[in-house]
Amino acid sequence: MNEIVQYEIDLQIEMCIKIEVFDMKIKKICLTAMIVSMGILLCACGNQQSDAEEKIRIGVTYYNHDTFLDQLIACFKEKLCELEGSTSEIIVTIRDASGSQRTQDDQVMELINAGCNVLCVNLVDRADPSEIIDLARENDVPIIFFNREPVAEDMKQWDRLYYVGAYAEQSGVMQGELAAAAIWSNDQIDRNKDGKIQYVILEGEPGHQDTIIRTGSAVDTLKKNGIELEKLSGGIANWNRAQAQNRIMQMISQYPNKIELVLANNDDMALGAIDAYKKLNYTESALPIFFGIDGTDAGLKAVADSKLYATVYNDKEGQAAAMAELAVALVVKDGMDEIEFDEDRSIYLPYDKVTADNVEKFLVE
Ligand code: BGC
Ligand code: CA
Repeated sequence: MNEIVQYEIDLQIEMCIKIEVFDMKIKKICLTAMIVSMGILLCACGNQQSDAEEKIRIGVTYYNHDTFLDQLIACFKEKLCELEGSTSEIIVTIRDASGSQRTQDDQVMELINAGCNVLCVNLVDRADPSEIIDLARENDVPIIFFNREPVAEDMKQWDRLYYVGAYAEQSGVMQGELAAAAIWSNDQIDRNKDGKIQYVILEGEPGHQDTIIRTGSAVDTLKKNGIELEKLSGGIANWNRAQAQNRIMQMISQYPNKIELVLANNDDMALGAIDAYKKLNYTESALPIFFGIDGTDAGLKAVADSKLYATVYNDKEGQAAAMAELAVALVVKDGMDEIEFDEDRSIYLPYDKVTADNVEKFLVE
């Protein structure tokens, strides 16, 4: 009897061990599959590293896919590859939150569970970072927010929160100065010769710092520069080219031949406006003058082709480099002294004006 019990126990132990090994194998297979399916980027820049050194595991989640964000993230990956030559191995996992804050919160949890030791977060809702901050704080994983700036109160929630971006106001002021200079230098822009500039404005997502501030400061700057303005219409196009095209179509039908100036919070929306006029077969001389912000590849090309009068360069290379250097320094716990913060734990890269005269310089960057 005893023998039988003993045998059963042995068998159970043996089975447990097998199950555990099997379980580990499954876990290993799952992990491998996960690594592949998660689109993990392992920079193949080759460097020797001892096992003792901590790997830099960066988890990135961004609000949605758009032209500027895609180009910024491409720059970030490039920058990490450059850095990998001089530091530990870097593993990056990138997630698209597809416009849902709930999804992004889950992604942050998943990235932390997968072992990320630093996070780069481009918030879906910049006013709702609390859940992400709590998760990161509980696991002591620092966060670098980028491009979509949390409000100051939230940045104070923990001392391992950072921000990399640009001063929205500067971009609006530059756009206003570029437009004012163009208007003063060319009296054909005031096509109906009434001494005022009839304008429309295309705005990004409501609530985004770059929407609210760019719009206000561009218009104020035009006025400060002595331009008399008349606003015909304005509309939200969520940074999106197709939405901007639709919006402008409606405005043109409401104000045929009346619009003299189109201000857009980003290049994609300025390009959408240009698409609308093209679709309606407007002749060159009947077109308004268009201004964007970003200096995306397509935006710069439009400036070079004299379709977009000017744009304001949103320094994605500088932002990507600042994020990459900060992420590495936070994990390896070295080099933080060399990082220059503009305010507390925030870094703001300057914007730059782009016209046909200097666009070449930006095209080669
Ligand atoms: C850019 C937009 C972009 C947005 C996303 C802005 O700074 O100018 O093009 O869509 O950020 O958050
Ligand atoms: Ca006019």
